[in-house]
Parts: sequence; C-alpha cells; structure tokens
Amino acid sequence: MIATEALRAVAAAVDGDRVLGRLDELAAIGTDPLGGTTRIAFSAEEEAALAVVGDWLRDAGLEPAYDEFGNLFASTDGNRAGAVTSVSGSHLDTVPNGGRFDGALGVVAAIEAVEAMKAVGALPQRPLEVVVWRCEEPVRFSQGRVGSLLFTGRVAPADLVSIGDPPFDLAAALAEEDRRPRRERSRRIASCLELHIEQGRRLERARRAVGVVTAIAAPIRLRITIDGRSDHSGATPMDDRRDALCAASELVLAVEEAARREAATESVATCARLTAAPGAINVVPGSAEILVDVRGIDAAGMERLVEQIRLSADAIAARREVRIETTILSRGTPTVLRADVVDALAGAVQQLGHEPVRLPSGAGHDAQCLAETAAVGMLFVPSVGGLSHCPEELTRPEDVIAGVQALAAGWLCLAQSFG
Ligand code: GLV
Ligand code: MN
Ligand code: MN
Repeated sequence: MIATEALRAVAAAVDGDRVLGRLDELAAIGTDPLGGTTRIAFSAEEEAALAVVGDWLRDAGLEPAYDEFGNLFASTDGNRAGAVTSVSGSHLDTVPNGGRFDGALGVVAAIEAVEAMKAVGALPQRPLEVVVWRCEEPVRFSQGRVGSLLFTGRVAPADLVSIGDPPFDLAAALAEEDRRPRRERSRRIASCLELHIEQGRRLERARRAVGVVTAIAAPIRLRITIDGRSDHSGATPMDDRRDALCAASELVLAVEEAARREAATESVATCARLTAAPGAINVVPGSAEILVDVRGIDAAGMERLVEQIRLSADAIAARREVRIETTILSRGTPTVLRADVVDALAGAVQQLGHEPVRLPSGAGHDAQCLAETAAVGMLFVPSVGGLSHCPEELTRPEDVIAGVQALAAGWLCLAQSFG
C-alpha cells in the first residue's frame, strides 16, 4: 500500500500541457485529407510517430530497445539482463481515418508517468518499461494486437492471415526495419498497466472521469464466402438466379439478428466488409465475401453467436441454391482481469479523489495478451459520445489529464505491489 501523499504527489507532477501538446503533435502525423488520422502499422506515418516518441523517451532518460517483432521497450534500468519489470504503454498505429487518442494516449501517458515519478523521486524499486506495441489494429491482418500476441508467443507469424490488398509481408517489413538495439530476451514482465479511451458511452453516462476495466473482450473473426452464379442482368428472370450478393445481404441481416439475441451476454457482431464480384452493372453477382467481427466478454455467448451465424448461412444457402462457406480467421478469448489488481487500481484512483466506474472493455487491447503471466490492469477515460475509430473521436482535456494522473499513480501501485 502506497501512501496517499505519494500517489497525489506523482499525480500532481503530471505536466498536463505537455501531455496535450504531445497528443496534438502525434495527431499531426498522418493527418488524413478525408478526416482524422491514418497511421497504418508499418507505414511511413507510424515510422515517423515512432521517431518522435523515441525523442520524447530519450528526453525522459529512457533508451529504446526493440524485440524481434518491432515492439519498442524503453526502460528505467537501461535494458538490464534478467530484470523483472513493470510495463505501460499502448500503440501508435490507427485504423484508416481513425482518431487521435486510440493508442496514442496510452503511449504519451506512460512516458509522462515516468517523468512524474522521477520528478518527485517516487520511481518504484522494480524497473519500469514504456512499451509501444506494433500493429494493434486489425488492418494488415485479420487480427489485431499482433505485436503483443507475437511477443507473448500466443500466435506465431505463420498464424497471421493477411486481409490487406496486396497481402502484407510482415517478415519483409521487419527485416527492412531491423530495429536495434534488441531488448534483452531474459527480461520478464511482472505487471502491465494500459491507459486507453473507453470507446463506449458508459463513463460519459456515469459522468465519471476514470474507469477501471474488469474484463476485456476478444474477437472471433470470420470470412464468409458465397458462391452463386454470374448471369446476364437483363436476360435472367428473377426466379432463375443464384445471386451471391442477395444471399450475402440476407446473411448480413441474419448476423445482426443473431447478435441481438445475445444481448444478455453483451456479445456483438459486425459485418465489416461486403464485397461482390464481378461488379459490372450488367452482371448478376456470382460471388461475394463478408468479413465478420464477433466480440464479447462471455466466451459461451460468442460461440453460440458463431454457431447461429453458421446455421443461418446453411439455411440461406439451401433456399437460394448458393454455396456458403464460413472460415474462422482468428479466435480470441476474452480476458477477465484479476480482482486484486482491479481493487488496487480502484483504490489508487479513489486516493486521487475520483470515484472510478468498474466496467468491461468491448474493444481488445494489447495489455490483455500479458494477462496469463503478469498482473494486468487497464484504466479508461471517457470518449465523448462514445465515438472512436473515426475522426470525431474525442476525450476532453480535463479527462485526458485525470487519466494520465490515474495511470501514473496506478502504475506506481502495480509496480510496487504485484509480482
Ligand atoms: C482495437 O481497436 C479493436 O479492434 O478492438
Ligand atoms: Mn483501435
Ligand atoms: Mn487502441
């Protein structure tokens, strides 16, 4: 248990103007003419953001080192072999036309927390590491959190399914970067804390500045292909068609209905992309493809949802005389965070004068990948209107600062008391 005065001193040492200025600076890297920020993993924009963050880390006395997957670690102990550390950070990549806080906030906050602890002489005994995970957004591959999943060995490079066009070659991208120096492989992570925007509406509705996450959803991702028959759009009567796009459209609505039936478990499903071929205006579409994202914090509810999608696909295929094939691209498992970590973080947040909301995360996050082997916690700040993954993504400056203060105090607690 860390004295309230120490936690408050660390929080008070957070430089709010520097935090907001750094978020502005990152938002300007990858400004998209269509709106928002586009900083796709392994793009020139993400590279530029990593360079800026590298400068901030060095200013804070932290020297970056990298693992074989390009994840950046910058430690207070200079990358000592065999150290047992506590990490905090997030990611710098975005979805196309994404927002300015998703990921960036957690990175800026972790650097600021180290600065604040140093400023008041409150660094914990355990070394701290700021981490920037790579490829968190599922833009290159069917699954996100690629850097943290590879780092923890939960997936191997061969398990990754590219959904980009052209397919993304991770090995070639990493070989081209060849980032050095390498983080000592013998280092072990005892605890991990990530600050993130909520990307939902619960905190805003509760009118609270800080949330402590209790569980983190994980996605099951599906590719559904529909094979019908291409035909002349003028010469083929309506009762003699095997229109793949019409079958796909029915299935899109069936996915929505299946997810509505899982309201009790708060599972959700999204048909994120529907493509049809050949795409000529005078041709009945002969084939179609749907990418589906199923999410939840209740594994059984997610499985039921996937099964219902398969049943609906079979029924539509039989009725419309098309062939429908469903492939699981990636299967994540939801993470329930340790109650003692949640309680410790809630306590730290309370000591700063906030009444935290305990809430689940509907989005996936890098921190969850470490939960099997480390004490993992997450803190949320409100998203205005719950909006995220869009240019309108916004967290009010006062909430940003409250979140960074909570991260600094919470990280100190976690690093000192767990592992
Ligand atoms: C991360 O943004 C996710 O898709 O959950
Ligand atoms: Mn995101
Ligand atoms: Mn994120």
